[in-house]
Amino acid sequence: MTVVVLGGGLIGLSVAWRAAQRGLPVTVVDDAPGGGASQAAAGMLAPVTEAAYGEEALLRLCLASLGRYPAFVAEVERAGGVPVGLRTQGTVVVGFDEDDMRALDALLEFQRELGLAVERLTARAARRREPSLSPRVRGALHVPGDHSVDGRALHAGLLAAAGAAGVRLVSSRVAEVRVVDGRAAGVRLADGTDLVADAVVVALGARSGALPGVPPLPVRPVKGQILRMRGAAGLLEGTVRALVRGRQVYLVPYDDGVTGDGLIVGATVEDRGFDAAVTAGGVHDLLHDAIEVVPGVSELELVETIARWRPATADNGPLLGPSEVPGVALATGHYRNGVLLAPVTGEVVAEHLATGELPELAAPFTADRFGR
Ligand code: GLY
Repeated sequence: MTVVVLGGGLIGLSVAWRAAQRGLPVTVVDDAPGGGASQAAAGMLAPVTEAAYGEEALLRLCLASLGRYPAFVAEVERAGGVPVGLRTQGTVVVGFDEDDMRALDALLEFQRELGLAVERLTARAARRREPSLSPRVRGALHVPGDHSVDGRALHAGLLAAAGAAGVRLVSSRVAEVRVVDGRAAGVRLADGTDLVADAVVVALGARSGALPGVPPLPVRPVKGQILRMRGAAGLLEGTVRALVRGRQVYLVPYDDGVTGDGLIVGATVEDRGFDAAVTAGGVHDLLHDAIEVVPGVSELELVETIARWRPATADNGPLLGPSEVPGVALATGHYRNGVLLAPVTGEVVAEHLATGELPELAAPFTADRFGR
């Protein structure tokens, strides 16, 4: 049973690593591993603050993955030799005007109905927790279980861990999936080389939708622009999310392993296809809102702006496990939760590859829920 994984981002590497640990020979094909959404992701592990009406199965999957995170990180750090910066200080969500506060109260009620750990904070209590918050904040929620990780460090760790487990990396683009007698037989690379495999895993993020050789998948790109800053040592304890007069922004501190004082501010949500432009308006809105929330952000060094694409599906849930082509497995469509869902995705898709069975937890996320 040989496996080719298309895509060397966080999801593809998690699948490849777990499959290799189960004794399967695995090759990852990617000409720029981690150059897609993994590079732009803020690294939030946020099942509670990302929870949405009607997405209870997704919430269960997200909570299951969050539960696996401490052990996953420890294992990646051990196997990959790279610290991946798991931060467990929780998340504060703040609002500015009456409408923001009404929205936060509705969120609180919804999260409580679902039995999630969340508490209401006065503005003063929020500032005790995060002293850099603006005095104009009207009130807040505290979500103790929503954490973060440094997505780029995690990617570097996974790359090393997968390599140590025997995963082979081929630096190339895939031209097509080869299907012979109705089942996957491998892939053809951009230079014409054929890689023979019993199973092909599609983990190409937003580019999973249109892959020659197999029927299109219901995955579309949703652009997110993000800012990376430096000089934020001590500015924030944990993640701060905000509604700033109706507009969402998040601020995620991270330790880049060099200066140890990074801050990520994100993100726009734009249906603009594969447009990678960082726009003046996008940067303006993110900076404006971040400075409203934490005025000290105006003192930071802006070191990077980047735009990438979330792989979105119609119900915001991922596509996991079998596809309509035997031998083609799916690990894509993670939309806003790719970093969070990496551990559980690696586990369930490796299980599917090794045994043909998909664990119950992942059953709601097979592609057939969207029809053919
Ligand atoms: N997970 C946050 C985002 O997609 O912007």
